[in-house]
Amino acid sequence: MKSIAVVGANLAGGRAVEALRAAGFDGQITLIGEEPWRPYERPPLSKEVLWDPANVPDNFFLQDEGWYAENRIDLRLGVRAEALDLTASAVQLRGGDHVRADRVLLATGGSPRKLNMEGADAANVHYLRTRDDALRMAADLVDGARIVIVGMGVIGAEVAASAVRLGCRVTAVEPLAAPMIRALGPQFGHWLGEEHRKRGVDTRFSRGISGMKVTDKRVTAVQLDDGSLIECDAVVVGIGIEPATSLARDAGLTTNNGILTDRQCRTSNPDIFAAGDVAEQEGFFGGRIRQETYQNAADQGQAAAQAMLGQTVDYCKPIWYWSDQFDLNIQFCGHIPVAAKVTVRGDMESNAFAAFFQAGDTIEGVLTVNRAPDMGVGKRLVERRVAADSTRLADPDFSLRELLKAAR
Ligand code: APR
Repeated sequence: MKSIAVVGANLAGGRAVEALRAAGFDGQITLIGEEPWRPYERPPLSKEVLWDPANVPDNFFLQDEGWYAENRIDLRLGVRAEALDLTASAVQLRGGDHVRADRVLLATGGSPRKLNMEGADAANVHYLRTRDDALRMAADLVDGARIVIVGMGVIGAEVAASAVRLGCRVTAVEPLAAPMIRALGPQFGHWLGEEHRKRGVDTRFSRGISGMKVTDKRVTAVQLDDGSLIECDAVVVGIGIEPATSLARDAGLTTNNGILTDRQCRTSNPDIFAAGDVAEQEGFFGGRIRQETYQNAADQGQAAAQAMLGQTVDYCKPIWYWSDQFDLNIQFCGHIPVAAKVTVRGDMESNAFAAFFQAGDTIEGVLTVNRAPDMGVGKRLVERRVAADSTRLADPDFSLRELLKAAR
């Protein structure tokens, strides 16, 4: 094998090319990205970049500009990969260039799902995925601006917190009964909704939007399905992503909600691999899932690189993610099993607690709020499917570390 092409100059693609060189691969590596930037970190886009767009943090990019040349990575930025040419072993780029590749990694991610109504593409309706999206949004999140957030998933909840910090008047609309309910479950979703409300967000949960009023190509008000009309200066939409599966699908690879991969990160074609948000992989608790998390993009990108080089890889990890909103550091690992037994450890009133979600006695999910050290152990409890007595988990003097040790 002499050449590898990675489609997607993002976290998964960036970590993959680093891992290829780290593993000693000496052949040709091409990293293809649609955005004009070398791989960067997306977590700051809903936070630091909005707070102070003129001073994007130093560590925003994964690597210094010179790193790619020094490591003989051929960066093809600002260009879309248009097709996989399987007979010629090549990736076809817009404009006609072909990149030859014995193996290809698809780290194509996804794009924000758009609202399906008049005004969805107005200049002051913002979606958030890229650096440029964040810079455009930042220009509208100014002191006193009236902002309507549509969808209180991770993006909506983080942008709501940033907008409050910037002095905006924020209304948050979410069709489910609480923010981030899919990730946190109802009990902790309601807790989070209250935290937003206490900090000044006008929360409109269990509400959808039925239309937007557009004047001079700008949305001036959002209509809710209870008939209320909310005047606004800008709208932020965070209603999930559409995985970018078309390259794979058009090449005849097996796709579903994402590009299907095995535990080697291999697609239905043995020379094509996929990683990151777009990969539909075996779930740690069964079934097939796409993991839309930072950690999965980084880890699966690396795992795919190793698998492409023929190393033994067995990638199947529980979900782990974090979110920072206001003064809350929220982390979750695993999942919430059906009919979960839920145990809180610590004090929800003071926003320093952990929660355990058990199926029978087995810990399948751990949530921490402002207790990051507990997550260090919590992740391993989930990964090792450790069983525990719930009354002991609730006792703050009971050592999680000892529990982990005893389970070995
Ligand atoms: N109108 C209003 N809200 C909606 C609609 C709709 N038509 N459709 C879905 N929603 C709500 C959902 O109920 C959910 O609360 O939008 C929210 C979407 O949440 P996520 O799935 O977390 O998606 P989003 O917040 O957009 O994040 C997209 O960016 O940082 C990443 O991890 C994040 O990968 C995720 C991606």
